[in-house]
Order: sequence, then structure tokens, then C-alpha cells
Amino acid sequence: MKKILVVGAGGQIGSELVPHFQKIYGVENVVAADINCNSCTHLAENGPFEELDALNKDRYIEIVKKHKIDAIFNLVALLSAKGEKNPQFAWQINIGALMNSLEIAREYKCAIFTPSSIGAFGTSSPLDNTPQDTVMRPNTIYGICKVTGELLGDYYFHRYGVDARSVRFPGIISNVTLPGGGTTDYAVEIYYGAIQQKKFVCPIPAGTYLDMMYMPDALNACVQLMEADPSKLKHRNSFNITAMSFEPEQIANAIRKRMPDFTMTYDVDPVKKAIADSWPNYMNDSCAREEWNWKPKWNLETMTDDMLKIIGEKHAKGLLK
Ligand code: SER
Repeated sequence: MKKILVVGAGGQIGSELVPHFQKIYGVENVVAADINCNSCTHLAENGPFEELDALNKDRYIEIVKKHKIDAIFNLVALLSAKGEKNPQFAWQINIGALMNSLEIAREYKCAIFTPSSIGAFGTSSPLDNTPQDTVMRPNTIYGICKVTGELLGDYYFHRYGVDARSVRFPGIISNVTLPGGGTTDYAVEIYYGAIQQKKFVCPIPAGTYLDMMYMPDALNACVQLMEADPSKLKHRNSFNITAMSFEPEQIANAIRKRMPDFTMTYDVDPVKKAIADSWPNYMNDSCAREEWNWKPKWNLETMTDDMLKIIGEKHAKGLLK
């Protein structure tokens, strides 16, 4: 990767992936693009930025040509719970951005990464130690888009030689940009609740295990997979990767160890509960470990220390809304 375009750069992952790439590949070699610059003024101020509606293929091509892009990160997506509010719109956005990205990668010979997710699995998948290759019949429109993306990524590789690679991300926990409309968002919001109000109302029932990962591991995964020796890859779209699996009581307890007055109650959201119940309790990520040396660094304890420290500092400076 020499010239990278990150589409959907203002979102939870993009807002940290762009500066991460800039450190590795140089500021001028990483172009951030989003539908408008409201959500990403920090990106627009710190490096090349382009306004792009990913459904506008002509504009997308113009940017790829202008910057001589050779790798595209397509991060455009409506997340799982939001997708269920308007499935037709979620399909239009998620698949529209995906198809334009794949077609442009084919025409302009770019490598392409479009994240998949734990959401690509469904109730008929084995939910404990979920294998890399197994039944995938998701119950959400988000998951249907993700499986479609995986199949198309492999199709474009075999049919056209497009260097398409990706991972199935678990819930990603971070402290720069909030996720919006996902089922795993609770594991981010709980830290903000702890710092701002010393309490949190959890929308997912106790006992619901989901795979999770701290953002620094997710950023490393993107670089490591895209830089991996292609001859070692038996899989491409998409690799199971995980760093930890926990249920709400466990993350609440990790916070309570550090903040004894923190309290958590439940107000279960039935849509999120149904989605969480259809996703793996924990995935088997041995193929990623074997094929490109995937190895997470963060666990629930070290992540909780870091999240409380960083969000606590922002709160003290009055930077939280
Ligand atoms: N974080 C996503 C969601 O909850 C899953 O990939 O929708």
C-alpha cells in the first residue's frame, strides 16, 4: 500500500485508522473521504480530505485518479440495530458503497478492504468457538450485507484478480468517535456512563457473551492483513479475529474494580437482544493466527485501565458532550 483512500473516514474506525496509517505511510499518502466534513474536521485539518458520497461513482473515480490511489478501505456502513429500522436503506448504502468500491478497485487496480463482522453469523451457525468456515445465514440486514461483501470480495479476487482481503471484526471499543447504531455499542457507552454519571443502563441482558476488541488491535489487524504475504493466505474474505469475549456483568465488574461506586442496571432493548443472541459467543480465530500472525495485545483488564484513563482525562478537560 502506497496511496491509501479511506472511505467513510469520519466513523468510529476511520477516525482512528486515518491517523494510524498517516504515521506508517506518511500524511500525504493517506486520503480521508466522507460524505461531509462535519464529522471529521480533525481529519480534514490534518491531511488530504475529500468530500465523497460513496454512492456517487463518478466522484469516487475522480478521487481515486486524482490521488493515484492503490488501496481502498471501504468503511461505509449502517450498523446492525440501525439497519433493522430501515432495512431497504441499509442495503442501498452498504451494498451501494461496496459495489462501487469493488468496481473501482477492479478498474483502477487497487487493493481493497471492506470489513465484515461477527454479524455475518446467525442462529444456525455454531455460536461457541465459531469456526472460520461454517454455516452463515445471518438474521439481520446488516449481516446479509456483510456475507454478500465476503462473497463478492472472494468473487472479485478469483474472477478479476482484485486483491480483496478482510476480517470479521467483533465489537470494537474505542474512545475517539462513538459508534452509531450497533449492537455492541454498549461496551463503549458503558465507559462514558461510568466517567460521566458513575452509572449505566445496559440494553443487552446479563449473560450475553459477544466477541470484542480494543481499537489499537483493530488498527494493527488492518495493516497486518493488508501487508501479509498473499502466498500465505488460504482465506481472504473474511478472517475471524477476536481479542476477548465477555458479557455485561464482566465489563461492569472490571469498571467497578477501579470505580467502586459505579452501578449498572438493565433496560433490555428487544431488537438488540435478538441480534446479540444470533451472534457468536466467541469465535475461533486460528486461521488468522496461522495465515498472517494475528495476535491481539489488549484484554478486558488492560483495556479498561486505558479507556477509563483516556475518557477520564477528556472529561476533566471538559471535552465530552
Ligand atoms: N459493531 C457492529 C454492530 O454492533 C457489529 O459488527 O452492529
